[in-house]
Amino acid sequence: MDNLEKIVSDALEQFGRIDDATQLEQAKARFLGKAGALTDLLKGLGKLPAEERREAGSRINAAKERIEAALTERRDALARLQLDARLAEEALDVTLPGRGAGRGRLHPLTRTQDRIEAIFRSIGFDVADGPEIETDWNNFTALNNPENHPARSMQDTFYVEAKDKDGRPLLLRTHTSPMQVRYARMHTPPIKVIAPGRTYRVDSDATHSPMFHQVEGLWIDENISFADLKGVYTEFLRRFFETEELDVRFRPSFFPFTEPSAEIDMAFAAGPSKGKWLEISGAGQVHPVVIRNFGLDPERYIGFAFGSGVERLAMLRYGISDLRLFYDGDLRFLQQFA
Ligand code: DAH
Repeated sequence: MDNLEKIVSDALEQFGRIDDATQLEQAKARFLGKAGALTDLLKGLGKLPAEERREAGSRINAAKERIEAALTERRDALARLQLDARLAEEALDVTLPGRGAGRGRLHPLTRTQDRIEAIFRSIGFDVADGPEIETDWNNFTALNNPENHPARSMQDTFYVEAKDKDGRPLLLRTHTSPMQVRYARMHTPPIKVIAPGRTYRVDSDATHSPMFHQVEGLWIDENISFADLKGVYTEFLRRFFETEELDVRFRPSFFPFTEPSAEIDMAFAAGPSKGKWLEISGAGQVHPVVIRNFGLDPERYIGFAFGSGVERLAMLRYGISDLRLFYDGDLRFLQQFA
């Protein structure tokens, strides 16, 4: 009992020296814990004569209260120190001037797509939008690409693991052509539509990006010919590039969904790149098998389709040489398109 004062002063002295919360709790155990100094004394009470027991008990309790009070005080002090340290570390200078809010603008590809839509709308085309995750059937089979046909490997495809509700494979559309199928199956001729949007292929370099944009065109009626394709597309290019001095040629090609098929090339008839032929679009007369997959009678309906790269059109219009600039998000590039 005589060392009670010593225990209290030891506790106060130790608590005062500690500046770490965990160590403080360990020190607490040394005095107030199960095997702590005070607990030992309390256990010893039973051995004292009855007349001394009461007084000794109240002295031990008083000592315990002093130790607990010291502990609480130190805990609070440590918590305040910790908070002060954090506040100092995370201090904000609210007097700093702000960074300023830049004014946003439309991405050059969005501007290009808007421009394409406006021109085609003005010549009577509807504008349709569709899913980027497509069925294998819409993307390939309905477009006369039979399963295992080598023409499928013209487009390196990202398949997704999920299947559609009928268990058929799904993929990231490799072109906007599946929109021909979706749109034609939901509308009756005359069908006159463009479908711009994102497309995906396993391809990446200065002129290829795994995600890119195309615009699909489709005109189906009872008497639509290659001459209409030539007229519509030439008109589109001249308005897109704002010049009449632009030549267009059709070069024989192959696509499974058109017969005959063509590449459309264009050349400026004036300016620095005068006379240089540039490939601009695939096109053709829609294949009878595809017309049938539209749910239409190929003996009655005929028409043309085309699929053009939006990046390509934007690069030619703005004189951009590297496709990757479109996706880097570099403001020095993007700010040039006001
Ligand atoms: N879908 C073709 C591609 O991505 C482009 C294309 C060619 C679309 C001819 C057409 C077409 O509609 O008729 O390579």
